[in-house]
Amino acid sequence: MNLFDPDRLTPASLAEAFPPDFLWGSATSAAQIEGAAFQDGKGASIWDAFCRQPGRIKDASNIDVACDHYHRFREDVALMKGLGLDCYRFSFSWPRVQPQGRGIWNEAGFGFYDRLIDALLEAGIKPHATLYHWDLPQALDEGIGGWLSRDIAGLFADYAAEVARRFGDRLASIATHNEPWCTATLGYETAQFAPGHTSRAESLQVAHHLMLSHGDAIAAMRAVTRAPLGIVLNHTPSFPATPSEADRRAARIDDGLNVRWYMDPIFRGAYPQDAIDFVGADAPQVEPGDLARIHQPLDFLGINFYTRSLLAADGKPVTGPGQRGFTDMGWEIVPEVFAQHLVRLAREYNPPPMYITENGMANADRVVDGRVPDVERIAYLSAHLRALATAISLGADVRGYFYWSLLDNFEWNSGYLKRFGLFHVDYATQQRVAKDSAHWYRDLVSRHHARR
Ligand code: NOJ
Repeated sequence: MNLFDPDRLTPASLAEAFPPDFLWGSATSAAQIEGAAFQDGKGASIWDAFCRQPGRIKDASNIDVACDHYHRFREDVALMKGLGLDCYRFSFSWPRVQPQGRGIWNEAGFGFYDRLIDALLEAGIKPHATLYHWDLPQALDEGIGGWLSRDIAGLFADYAAEVARRFGDRLASIATHNEPWCTATLGYETAQFAPGHTSRAESLQVAHHLMLSHGDAIAAMRAVTRAPLGIVLNHTPSFPATPSEADRRAARIDDGLNVRWYMDPIFRGAYPQDAIDFVGADAPQVEPGDLARIHQPLDFLGINFYTRSLLAADGKPVTGPGQRGFTDMGWEIVPEVFAQHLVRLAREYNPPPMYITENGMANADRVVDGRVPDVERIAYLSAHLRALATAISLGADVRGYFYWSLLDNFEWNSGYLKRFGLFHVDYATQQRVAKDSAHWYRDLVSRHHARR
């Protein structure tokens, strides 16, 4: 049977393939959509600062305005309601609610999230929050060296507990970190992301502090809320470029450095030994008791899936035979890998219930006569949802799916050049236009709801 047979990719067929209580959502993050970067007492984040460094962002843009969601959130909640979404994943901006990253709370900043959460609940949409989606208070970077400092774990736990205490009873879930691999590797090793450092040793120490802060935040939040708590990890499964033993080893190491480097401490209380051996002197300093602090029971695991990587022995990503479509990010489209990977996680880790907290594609979308004919995105979405339904039928306990993203938005070092949204955004007018994929998704959700 061909899973990706067109007849199996229609909203009608997919609606039948998911369990009745499966949840449909979309996702965004604060820095990418809110704007109002210096309004109502918000402190600068490391991305506000990074955007101001020449050459860091491909279109030399910044996030002062972004999608102006801070002022337009009611319109954006109405868009979600129009799609019939069950849930929405957003992030808190740490410097909006605590401008210095320690000490005084900014009531005006909390007020924004209070209004957003109420608007979502009124629209019947469950709010799922993430505490750290990359916008560290700049004051912490300057004051203590940001994630390089061990002290940040305690500061992050204080921030997490404050959010949980204020909002926990209205949140459907709280995730500590979004994609800690990206924070550590892209921020401290490859310099693609803020704060733009270039050291593997730093990146692995940062990864350790991110996980310590995760564990401490979970423990601090447990004391003040009953909201389900978890973390969001990005998984890009690693494949050898050729069947050679050297390439296979490169892929195993890469898997150790992205998937297992985070999964193992969190779910098994240990770093993967092969990857520790590989990094040698760059391995992080780990103090006695750290792994017990990281290894906290979780209520859910969020997985962000986009693509796979192909590894050759020299460690450089390559393109190889058998590769098919690519998105506008240059990422290979591999829905079958999505299914395989979820089944692997279920078998190897026996994780708590999973959510697909992100999945989606960038596409060169344009408005044509008031419509956005994004057939590529419909194909991507339908194939990944078919793969997801297959993974669930094979035993992966996945409870919901959040399409990335609700809106076109600031794609980090790519600026506004890459469009992931279900809604097209004209940044000059802030006009949102539903893409054909939004209509397709709405159709799927309503057919699935009709079966509940
Ligand atoms: C991962 C990140 O969490 C999100 O911020 C980003 O925009 C998407 N993937 C697409 O790259």
